[in-house]
Amino acid sequence: MSPAAKTRIAILISGRGSNMASVMAAAQAPDYPAEIALVLSNRPEAGGLAHAAAAGIETRAVDHKRFRDRASFDAALQAELDAAGIELVVLAGFMRIFSAPFVEAWTGRMINIHPSLLPLFRGVHTHEQALRAGVRLHGCTVHFVVPELDAGPIIAQAAVPVLPGDDPDSLAARILVQEHRIYPAALALVASGHARLDGDRVVFADDVRVPEGSLHSL
Ligand code: GRF
Repeated sequence: MSPAAKTRIAILISGRGSNMASVMAAAQAPDYPAEIALVLSNRPEAGGLAHAAAAGIETRAVDHKRFRDRASFDAALQAELDAAGIELVVLAGFMRIFSAPFVEAWTGRMINIHPSLLPLFRGVHTHEQALRAGVRLHGCTVHFVVPELDAGPIIAQAAVPVLPGDDPDSLAARILVQEHRIYPAALALVASGHARLDGDRVVFADDVRVPEGSLHSL
């Protein structure tokens, strides 16, 4: 029997791309259900682009500064995604907000990782927000993307303790370790059809096992 076809994904980045690299590492496994068909950045100088290109992955820069408005930038992105036959869009530190029509065109087929336990601390500076709020647990969330920022249905989360003496950098570093763990895993669930969007909820296949008694959902 031939192996199941892999889902063709594009990873969209704006910076160093450490989450992208965690997906690249996971995708080395022969049975990983997704293949990275494209890495795309809105910033031509993004460090992650060079890293992906060095690994032989197709890369594109679509510089948002060259476009007069959000709609024309989104149209250029869409053209790249169409040309590469992309089935699932994976946002990994992509620092542009999309127009609603673009997001709606990818409903259930675009995921993001956000460095907080949503619905707490949307937007930027999440670690500062968490320290200011005095929470004792903080973490990261993988979610489907909807037009409202950082508001989409949740696929996976991991929590870390906030320790006495933490500053935004120490907290970010502790959470990044968990991001690199849950993003490839959550992406695999979506790419294989074991997690899917159903209205405003995420539905999991019966055989998805979630460990009990840990701080982590995956
Ligand atoms: C990560 O913290 C991610 O959660 C957020 O942006 C950061 C990107 O880091 N959305 P990297 O480029 O993946 O290293």
